[in-house]
Amino acid sequence: MDVTLNICVTCRKSERLLDASEDHAPTDQDPRPGDLLYEKLSRKTLPEGVLLNPVKCLSACSNGCAIAITGKDRWSYVYGHMDPDVHADDILSGIEAYQKSDDGLVPWRERPEIFRKQVLSRIPPLPEALNSENESD
Ligand code: FES
Repeated sequence: MDVTLNICVTCRKSERLLDASEDHAPTDQDPRPGDLLYEKLSRKTLPEGVLLNPVKCLSACSNGCAIAITGKDRWSYVYGHMDPDVHADDILSGIEAYQKSDDGLVPWRERPEIFRKQVLSRIPPLPEALNSENESD
């Protein structure tokens, strides 16, 4: 696998995504939207070489649903406010563009809108010296 798509399965929807028409505030008995997003993506055909990885919390809880994409020698990104009802296909097109890039830096115009507007952070690839260190372990 050369690219990992981490999905926080414990995320709730951020305030920004809560629909005013929902008849009650989310409770602990309601399914976690992050888990619904993971389930939805699990049923899709992922590009070859992409690992879908469920995780518990990406420390972006007030921005749920949160996802993080990463790969060796690539920039990593954390995105928030993913809606399991509408964003699964956009996430897949974003991960495909990310995978095709050499270093994880996808030209702005080639990113799906949710990857342009909902990025929470980006993290540089490991420095070469650390990569060499890890390979000798
Ligand atoms: S519960 Fe999803 S980021 Fe914390």
